[in-house]
Amino acid sequence: MDDTQHLHEKVKTILYSLTGITLAENKDIMIANRLHKLRRDTSFSGDLDQLLDVISEGKHTTEFINSFTTNKTHFFREDFHFTDLRDRVLPEFANSGQEVKMYCSASSTGEEPYSMAMTVFETEAILNKKIRASIIATDIDTNVLQYAANGVYRFSKSSKEFPEWISPQKYFKRRVKKSLAIEEVLIKVKPELQRMVSFQVMNLNDNSYPFAQDQFDVVFCRNVLIYFSVEDQDAILRKLFKHLKMGGTLYIGHSESPHSLIDYVKRVGQNIFIKTKEIH
Ligand SMILES: C[S@@+](CC[C@H](N)C(=O)[O-])C[C@H]1O[C@@H](n2cnc3c(N)ncnc32)[C@H](O)[C@@H]1O
Repeated sequence: MDDTQHLHEKVKTILYSLTGITLAENKDIMIANRLHKLRRDTSFSGDLDQLLDVISEGKHTTEFINSFTTNKTHFFREDFHFTDLRDRVLPEFANSGQEVKMYCSASSTGEEPYSMAMTVFETEAILNKKIRASIIATDIDTNVLQYAANGVYRFSKSSKEFPEWISPQKYFKRRVKKSLAIEEVLIKVKPELQRMVSFQVMNLNDNSYPFAQDQFDVVFCRNVLIYFSVEDQDAILRKLFKHLKMGGTLYIGHSESPHSLIDYVKRVGQNIFIKTKEIH
């Protein structure tokens, strides 16, 4: 094994032990770039091997985790999940007056939980009824959580992401940022949306999660399972399942599978599952 390979194997071992993420074989360029950036960000004066030793001993672990997560997301990604939430799930809560408790398990920079919140407000407007709703959003990466809580996005990027049934001006304040020759339009999430979502750091690879049994009516676990081995994906889904109420809905990403939950759920749409049986 040459030095680079040795270094990359060490990264994979540490990353797996801290997060459960399994890096694919063809990630050498990505690993090299992120390692160099990590050394700059931590102002570490030794070489990369020494930096990894220090991380193994428990220093700079947050920076390490933040460097190696992939945070790609956008507003209303896989928007059929939000139309299902609007048309099938939320009307029941609008009618009963019960609070709908939702969980977004890998929220990245916040576009996903804010899309859930906008869907609640749109449903209220359509039905002309109030909906009591709360969203807990977690991620392992502390940088993205800070970004999410701040709720400021670039309009040029985000404007293409909203489906036609959402008017972004209802949910965001525009702000023009001028620096040198560049003028950029930023949008800031309005307080009523922010009040519905609370962000927390959480590792899906932990043995258990800090929620009550049957706490949630809705769980979003999308585009994060792909970073784990099949066994670990299954273990995560089983842990999440404990916190989902009977009859509650689980949304997973387009290329993800419900694995062994398949016998305990009913499929009601594209990667949309309702809990039908408890796992004992
Ligand atoms: C590609 S993003 C997906 C974001 C969003 N769910 C979506 O579908 O657009 C994956 C997110 O999972 C988070 N993540 C990776 N490993 C995690 C873990 N062990 N626990 C919690 N979050 C994790 C990453 O930090 C990243 O923000």
